[in-house]
Amino acid sequence: MGKVKDSSLKEQGRVKIEWAQSRMPVLMMLREKYSKTKPLSGFRVAACLHVTKETAVLVESLSVAGARVALCASNPLSTQDDVAAALNASEIDVYAWRGETEEEYYWCIDRVLDTKPNITMDDGADLVTTLHTKRADLLEGVIGGTEETTTGVLRLRAMEKQGRLRYPIIAVNDAETKWDFDNVYGTGQSAIDGVIRATNILFAGKNVVIAGFGHCGRGIAMRARGLGANVIVTEVDPIKALRARLEGYEVMTMDEASKMGDVFITATGCKNVITREHFVKMKDGAILANAGHFNVEIAVDELKRLAVRERVVRENNTEYTLNGGKRLYLLAEGRLVNLGAAEGHPSEVMDMSFANQFLSVLRLVNERGKLKAGVYSVPREQDEEVARLKLESMGIKIDTLNEEQRRYLSEWREGT
Ligand code: ADE
Repeated sequence: MGKVKDSSLKEQGRVKIEWAQSRMPVLMMLREKYSKTKPLSGFRVAACLHVTKETAVLVESLSVAGARVALCASNPLSTQDDVAAALNASEIDVYAWRGETEEEYYWCIDRVLDTKPNITMDDGADLVTTLHTKRADLLEGVIGGTEETTTGVLRLRAMEKQGRLRYPIIAVNDAETKWDFDNVYGTGQSAIDGVIRATNILFAGKNVVIAGFGHCGRGIAMRARGLGANVIVTEVDPIKALRARLEGYEVMTMDEASKMGDVFITATGCKNVITREHFVKMKDGAILANAGHFNVEIAVDELKRLAVRERVVRENNTEYTLNGGKRLYLLAEGRLVNLGAAEGHPSEVMDMSFANQFLSVLRLVNERGKLKAGVYSVPREQDEEVARLKLESMGIKIDTLNEEQRRYLSEWREGT
C-alpha cells in the first residue's frame, strides 16, 4: 500500500482509466495477449512516470502480465490524484501526489526503490540516477530498465560514456513509433492544451515564440500555426533553424524574439533559455510556459527576484509584476505545461509509446543475463509491429511489396 493524496477519489480515477483504455487498443491487445501466460510473474517493476490515466493503463497491463509494480511520479506537478487513488486501491503501490516538494518527490522515489526492483521504468532518469548514487546496494537485483524521454536518454548516455551505467536500459524514446509521434503530435497538442487551459487566450493573431525546433518544438509550432498564430522559432542548431525557416516560421534570436512574443513556449531540453535579460525586454502581458522535461528552461528564480508582486490569477497561472508595472504570466511554475496545466499527451498517442514500453519490459525479461550494461535501442521489428497494430486498430490497410518490387529494391544493376 502506497501513499496518495486522497483515496476517496478512486472511483473518479477508475472512470478516467477506463476512458484511456478505450483509446489505447494496441496496449490493451498486448495486455490480453499476455494475460494467460503471465511472462512477468515474479518480476518487480519500479516505475517513475507521470502518474496519468495513460500510465495507469501501462502499469495495470504489466500487472496483468504478472509483474508486481510500484509507481512514483517523474515530476512533482504531473500526478493526477484521482488516477493515483484508483491504482493504489488495486494492485499497484503508488507513492505520488500532485504538488510534491522536492524532498517529497525523492522520498517517493526511495519508497519505490524499497520494493527492490528487478526492472526500472523511468521518465527523465531520476529513478536510475538515485538508484546508482544513493541506493547502489540494490543494483545487484536489477536486470534492466527502460527510459521514456529525450532528456532521460541524454542523461543515460552521459552515464554510459563515463562508465557509470551498471545495467542495460532500453531507450524507448528513440523508437520511431515513440519520438516521431508522441514528441511531435503529443507534445504539439498537449502543450497548447496546457496554455489554453491556464489562460483561455485566443491564439489567432498572437506572436508565439517557440524555443527549440526539435520534435517537440516542431509539433508545438505546427499546432500554434494551425490556430492562427504567427510563430517565431529560436534555435542554437543551424540545421534545425534552417528547417524551421523553410517550414515558413520566422527565425531569430531569443534576444530579438523577447521583444515581440505574446506567448513563449520552451522545448529545448536545455537550461536558462529565457532569463532576466529577456524578461526585462518583454511586452506587458507576455505568457511564459515550458514544455521541456525539467523546470530549468525559464529562469523562474530570476523572474521571482525581478518581481515586486506575485499573485495567482488563474489555476496554474501566476502573475509577476515588475518594477514599472509590467506583468508577466508564468504557467505551471515553469514545469511541463502539458502535464502541469493539462492532462499530458492524449491516450491515442501514448498507446504507441507505452506499447513500446510494455514490449521492452518483455524483452528485458526474455533476454535477461544476455545484455551488457549500456543504452539499447528498440529493434526495428518492434517499431514496425507497433505501427502495424496501430494501423490495424484504426481499420487502415496498406500495400505490400510484390516479389518483383522487393528484388528491384535490393538490386544495383537496374538503372536508366
Ligand atoms: N508524457 C506526456 N504525456 C503523458 C501522459 N499522458 N501520460 C504519461 N506520460 C506522459
